[in-house]
Amino acid sequence: MLFVTGGCGFIGANFILDWLARSSEPIVNLDALTYAGNPENLTSLEGDARYHFVHGNICDSATVEQVYAKYAPRAVVHFAAESHVDRSIHGPAAFIETNVRGTLSLLEGARQYLAGSTDAALKNAFRFAYISTDEVYGSLKADDPPFTELSRHEPNSPYAASKAGSDHLVRAYFKTFGLATLTTHASNNFGPYQFPEKLIPLAINNALGGRAIPIYGSGKQVRDWLHVSDHCAAVRAVLESGQPGETYNVGGESERENLQVVHTLCAILDRVRPKASGSYADQIEFVKDRLGHDWRYAIDGGKIASSLGWRPARSFKASLEQTVRWYLENGDWLKRVQSGAYLKWIDQHYGK
Ligand code: NAD
Ligand code: TYD
Repeated sequence: MLFVTGGCGFIGANFILDWLARSSEPIVNLDALTYAGNPENLTSLEGDARYHFVHGNICDSATVEQVYAKYAPRAVVHFAAESHVDRSIHGPAAFIETNVRGTLSLLEGARQYLAGSTDAALKNAFRFAYISTDEVYGSLKADDPPFTELSRHEPNSPYAASKAGSDHLVRAYFKTFGLATLTTHASNNFGPYQFPEKLIPLAINNALGGRAIPIYGSGKQVRDWLHVSDHCAAVRAVLESGQPGETYNVGGESERENLQVVHTLCAILDRVRPKASGSYADQIEFVKDRLGHDWRYAIDGGKIASSLGWRPARSFKASLEQTVRWYLENGDWLKRVQSGAYLKWIDQHYGK
């Protein structure tokens, strides 16, 4: 049994779907169903005896303790977080609460669960995989070498600072209590089921809705793009073969300037869903820059490649086209997540 947190969000939902498509091992998913958590992402698992859902908050130690006790997991895969930089600038408190206190609650729950167990095999095999971000390393200049696992933590946004705080707690639980932790630092993910607040789904959504596509500042900032399926494969590799106490950078080998990403995306839309006149690129609008905007993220993926044999399998361009097509085919999903209509779905399914 795997204990997944935040499994109704973007990466968590993709991870659960991928996992259950490959494995008979069941999953329990603890999710608070914030604005970013959409249980509809996992409707295809309804009636699947391998999938268990617990609606609850990772900060609630009693709930966390009950999940460990009832489901006796052999591993935790911890995705749950407040994940959007812009929101962290406008309201950092929720980020500290979920990302730092929530992680502490899960770590402490794991420690107590194992301390109370007499199962030596479980104690030996147990793993706590924490899904962190490359943003903890701060920002690179154009010609700096990419981040390695030895790069210093220099977080710049409240989001990155909260994830860095959790990184340190995870490290401390390994060093102090011997909890078998594994930490991944992934670059910017994209793919199906991503809430339309991050660059790629927001640009697709606004393009299709005839609205402006906002580019912060010059649009010359660089991100490394990782398809979510590649990220899920990396997490599986780390979970199965990673060395306890180690951290692994997970990159997409696809550095692109933001403006370049949006132009590529508009060109795909022009081809597959042409407008009556003009290009979607006409909707691009340069807006005020983000406060403290990190210039560049880039990943040196040498460690995970040499120690676990993982490298990203997908090309950026083909994956971007596939992602654009997914959003075109799932226009109703896009409308529902924005209108909050899925909250009604939660009422029906979970009686809240
Ligand atoms: P997301 O915002 O799409 O989903 C977060 C999920 O966590 C939602 O289902 C939400 O309901 C749940 N959640 C939030 N607060 C909770 C709480 N207190 N208790 C229980 N559940 C709670 O996020 P995502 O993009 O899927 O990111 C998942 C993880 O991966 C995060 O830890 C994030 O920091 C990390 N990460 C994301 C990216 C990226 O590009 N999206 C890159 C690197 C790392
Ligand atoms: P985002 O998807 O929010 O991820 P992160 O900030 O975690 O990297 O943003 C990706 C890049 O795109 C980042 O440099 C900010 C920029 N951006 C825009 O220019 N316009 C937008 O509307 C958004 C959401 C992001």
